[in-house]
Amino acid sequence: MALLEVRDLMVSFATPEGEVHAVNSVDFDVEPGEVMAIVGESGSGKSQTAMALLGLLSENGQARGSALFDGKDLLKLSQSELNQYRGSQVAMIFQDPMTALNPYRTVGSQLREVLTCQRHMERRQANREALEMLEQVRITDPERRLQQFPHELSGGMQQRVMIAMALLARPRLLIADEPTTALDVTVQAEISELLRDYQRRYETAIMLITHDLGVVAGLCERVLVMYGGRVMEYGDVRAIYHQAEHPYTAGLLRSVPRLDRLDDEELHGIPGNPPNLLELPTGCPFQERCQVAIERCSSLPSLTRANHGGLRRCHLEGAIE
Ligand SMILES: Nc1ncnc2c1ncn2[C@@H]1O[C@H](COP(=O)(O)OP(=O)(O)O)[C@@H](O)[C@H]1O
Ligand code: SF4
Ligand SMILES: [Mg+2]
Repeated sequence: MALLEVRDLMVSFATPEGEVHAVNSVDFDVEPGEVMAIVGESGSGKSQTAMALLGLLSENGQARGSALFDGKDLLKLSQSELNQYRGSQVAMIFQDPMTALNPYRTVGSQLREVLTCQRHMERRQANREALEMLEQVRITDPERRLQQFPHELSGGMQQRVMIAMALLARPRLLIADEPTTALDVTVQAEISELLRDYQRRYETAIMLITHDLGVVAGLCERVLVMYGGRVMEYGDVRAIYHQAEHPYTAGLLRSVPRLDRLDDEELHGIPGNPPNLLELPTGCPFQERCQVAIERCSSLPSLTRANHGGLRRCHLEGAIE
């Protein structure tokens, strides 16, 4: 059985300009111990998908559908029931570590609290474990870090502390929302490696959210590509890398540097910008930027079986070059 089974997830926001449909009929599974990715440009609905699962939508937001975690529907839990899941069963790390860290408390006291509250350890054992985790996330001079406040650390170090805090709870599912976006390339690579090591060691399932399809290779098994709040393509990462079947995925791939491409081949982003959700066209959300659009694209394609074994939402058949 899947650890997380998301079905027909919808997220909408009431705004003065009208209802914003940020996530529409999204379905996916996360298997125990699996690393899956949600990929798409900014504004595709990736973060709101995650926030809905943890009951963290802003006040004007509403989620519908179901999200069975270990058989229990997260969308139907009360705030107090959700609090029991958050952190201990499902932990989330963010692009900005200060969303999760308390600026007024030392790193040590925040890390120890996870262990004493969620894993019921006594203080000395908690201190030892916190220290060990800081070593695992490769923080230099960990003893001293425990005494420091978050603002005394660099951005990359804060990110590692937040990851350490999430991992100390030994969650069964870790949701990582653009965890490396604000960091330089070397630190990005180190943090990706760290997540992979941890996932292998503890078989934690990871849902990695990113706008960069390049980050996904080598880290994830399955990928869900979103655009305009809808699933565009879903399937095995390698198969999709090899042969994307949606023009949007193909466009994202063209903007990723790849070893198997000639050096002088230019990287092309997708021309144009993601749509304003209040003015989404009827039909395929990607039609205004799609270079192979046809007349039929003014009606919404359904998700159909792709040759790579996953799913695709496009009127055109077969692989996209
Ligand atoms: N509180 C809100 N009120 C109205 N619209 C919102 C709100 N939060 C998010 N949205 C809408 O949802 C869209 C998708 O957001 P998000 O999931 O954060 O995108 P992503 O993480 O893919 O960049 C945003 O572009 C915005 O239009
Ligand atoms: S349905 Fe049409 S507009 Fe949408 S991606 Fe396919 S070809 Fe392009
Ligand atoms: Mg986001």
